[in-house]
Amino acid sequence: MIVKTNMRLFSSSSSSLCSTITITCILVIFTVSMGCCQAQLSTDFYKKACPNVFAAVNSVVKAAIAKEKRMGASLLRLHFHDCFVQGCDGSILLDDTSSFTGEKTAGPNNNSIRGYEVIDQIKSKVEAVCPGVVSCADIVAIAARDSVVLLGGPNWEVKVGRRDSKSASPNGANSALPPPTSSLNNLITLFSAVGLSTKDMVVLSGAHTIGKARCTSFKGRIYNESNIDPSFATKRRANCPFTNGTARDNNLAPLDHKTPNFFDNSYFNNLLHKKGLLHSDQVLYDGGATDSLVEAYGKNEQAFHNDFVAAMIRMGDIAPLTAPKGQIRKNCRKPN
Ligand code: HEM
Ligand SMILES: *[C@@H]1O[C@H](CO)[C@@H](O)[C@H](O)[C@H]1NC(C)=O
Ligand SMILES: *[C@@H]1O[C@H](CO)[C@@H](O)[C@H](O)[C@H]1NC(C)=O
Ligand SMILES: *[C@@H]1O[C@H](CO)[C@@H](O)[C@H](O)[C@H]1NC(C)=O
Repeated sequence: MIVKTNMRLFSSSSSSLCSTITITCILVIFTVSMGCCQAQLSTDFYKKACPNVFAAVNSVVKAAIAKEKRMGASLLRLHFHDCFVQGCDGSILLDDTSSFTGEKTAGPNNNSIRGYEVIDQIKSKVEAVCPGVVSCADIVAIAARDSVVLLGGPNWEVKVGRRDSKSASPNGANSALPPPTSSLNNLITLFSAVGLSTKDMVVLSGAHTIGKARCTSFKGRIYNESNIDPSFATKRRANCPFTNGTARDNNLAPLDHKTPNFFDNSYFNNLLHKKGLLHSDQVLYDGGATDSLVEAYGKNEQAFHNDFVAAMIRMGDIAPLTAPKGQIRKNCRKPN
């Protein structure tokens, strides 16, 4: 094609304009087609191959949340824990086997992450509509957005086009995911390690306006800390004993005591009243550099929602696995 164009270029001066246009055209097509294979996600990635993916995901998420409100929180957290470990690549969904240890049993996930069955249900529905097209990683990202919307939070267009990993990283899960005992500096460092700012960290922590935590995750705070509202501490202690190793370690308490199933800004107002449940929540408002952000989001729910959306899109962009890397898993629990 190039040779033919060159020949025409020399054939006559009247056709040289056309040829220049042709060459420009080839260059444009070449540049655009290269663009397709760079690590880039887009909101219309499935426009041709699976236009109904969003409706399929939404119907299952809707049913799951109608059955249990907390599932919305669990699906949002699933996306976070996927993205922080080798990027948003569905690595968290891989089951352990006798010869493979994945992320599900890593410290931050074991007996804590929920929603795997809902992802399986969504995957079967999506496979029925367009087989072999949509990644498990994208399903998790869409389900997280749908959950936020269904619990009264902001909406946004989800960027898609991620592919699924063939591997997982238990060590990555243990080192990259922040524990509830984290100091403010530790939180800032761990978010910065995946390219997220301190502001992103604070606004994404606002996800704790929904969902629950186990006694074992907050007992250090309710028994040992002084920057806690005394009546709030007393109330939480009643259902969470100081002694370790009892079944009551799994007792649950809402992360937002005011509106645990509503994606509002009350998480930030709780912090202003020293009613953060986790140590890692209250460090955001404890006389440090992030106090002013907590105050701002506590006053202005719209600002919280806007900044949360921008930060969720950035979190969803962590280390995207795109063609020709990765695969579209048939079963989210194992590589093809
Ligand atoms: C800033 C650092 C963070 C820390 C230290 C942290 C820690 C935790 C812990 C310890 C729990 C309770 C787990 C349990 O006891 O089983 C939890 C729950 C939760 N986290 Fe985070 N988290 C952080 C950031 C995030 C982010 C960025 C999101 C999402 C954008 C998120 C969403 C959630 C949700 C929705 C729940 C409730 C889940 C449920 O009810 O199933 N968290 N988090
Ligand atoms: C995960 O939790 C189970 C109990 O449900 C426990 O038996 C197992 O040892 C834990 N796995 C790891 C790696 O800690
Ligand atoms: C609280 O602090 C005491 C002593 O300072 C320590 O023995 C205990 O293990 C701590 N408890 C928790 C749950 O962190
Ligand atoms: C309970 O366990 C935590 C963490 O595993 C530990 O830091 C704490 O010292 C223990 N507390 C008691 C009272 O044994």
